[in-house]
Amino acid sequence: MAEDGDAGRTTHQRAASSPFRPDLFAGRTVAVTGGSSGIGLAIAQAFHAHGAEVHLLARDPARLAAAAATMPGSRTHAVDVRDPDRLEAAAAAVGPTDALVNAAAGNFPIPFDAMSRNAWQAVVSIVLDGTANACRAFRPRLRPGSTVTNIVAGYAWTGAPGVAHSGAAKAGVLNLTRSLAVEWAPVRVNAVSPGPIDGTEGMKRLADDLGLRAGIEAAVPLGRLGHAPEVAFACLYLASPAASYVTGACLVVDGGMDAMGPFGPLLGRLPATR
Ligand code: NAP
Ligand code: COA
Repeated sequence: MAEDGDAGRTTHQRAASSPFRPDLFAGRTVAVTGGSSGIGLAIAQAFHAHGAEVHLLARDPARLAAAAATMPGSRTHAVDVRDPDRLEAAAAAVGPTDALVNAAAGNFPIPFDAMSRNAWQAVVSIVLDGTANACRAFRPRLRPGSTVTNIVAGYAWTGAPGVAHSGAAKAGVLNLTRSLAVEWAPVRVNAVSPGPIDGTEGMKRLADDLGLRAGIEAAVPLGRLGHAPEVAFACLYLASPAASYVTGACLVVDGGMDAMGPFGPLLGRLPATR
């Protein structure tokens, strides 16, 4: 497991030092939307490091190529998840699939009152429609024993300022996850909810550009931001036989942030004895 001490290592190095068996996904085909960057890239690298044939789906061909260069044998599919026809063609090119991970997302913090209709639509259509589109496109290609893992966020059930579009869409994805877990069994459909993950574009803006790192760390019982491979390990687990009785679940990987609740600021301020 990645620890604070290995912060200088690359994402791929951390994934390669995983506690899972190196050949866990040998002979398996894994498709990752949003696999060209951030958490989706770490997820793709983790599956690749464990023997999977990995397919990356995202829009920008240059970023896809750079990501694929870190995973020999991986393949890329330049596609916007809002485009069902292109997704269908990409899924056909991937062929029989053992695991689909939906990590593609768009987000920008903005108050609801300042959000144009197009701004709302852009985020909701990428996150919610895009996830549904990918599920629909890959459904006929899912092999027996296959899994779908959707990446959500904790504000899907709490709400949060500046993310009404993303929060509403992630809440929809969470519900879609549970409905498909019911309708598609024995295909297992689960969600993973990352907390604040260091080095991602969103966290660079919040933690570094806006200087909020200390405040974010204080809101996490484990006292630090997460590493992308720590989210990837949750995805490996859910796609593995170790999770053979787990479906319709949401695995929260947030250092305890969600457990903190509204009394979090009291942490460390209560008397140690009575
Ligand atoms: P990121 O680095 O910005 O990556 C987003 C990925 O999605 C990129 O590969 C991007 O590639 C792709 N993408 C965006 N729009 C797309 C579209 N319309 N069609 C196809 N691909 C598209 O994001 P991240 O921060 O790692 O987040 C990854 C996931 O984790 C997201 O679902 C996010 O909501 C979730 N999450 C992140 C955090 C965090 O701390 N960062 C916390 C909680 C949840 P192109 O732009 O080239 O298409
Ligand atoms: N603040 C306010 N509004 C914004 C915005 C911002 N930072 N970025 C985009 N918008 C608005 C645009 O103004 C437009 O609305 P308008 O037509 O009323 O002006 C609408 O959103 C659509 O913008 P557009 O650039 O056409 O959308 P897109 O489909 O090309 O891009 C985004 C989608 C906006 C989500 C873009 O940020 C993106 O592709 N992000 C991917 C990476 C990402 O967000 N990573 C974080 C993952 S959690």
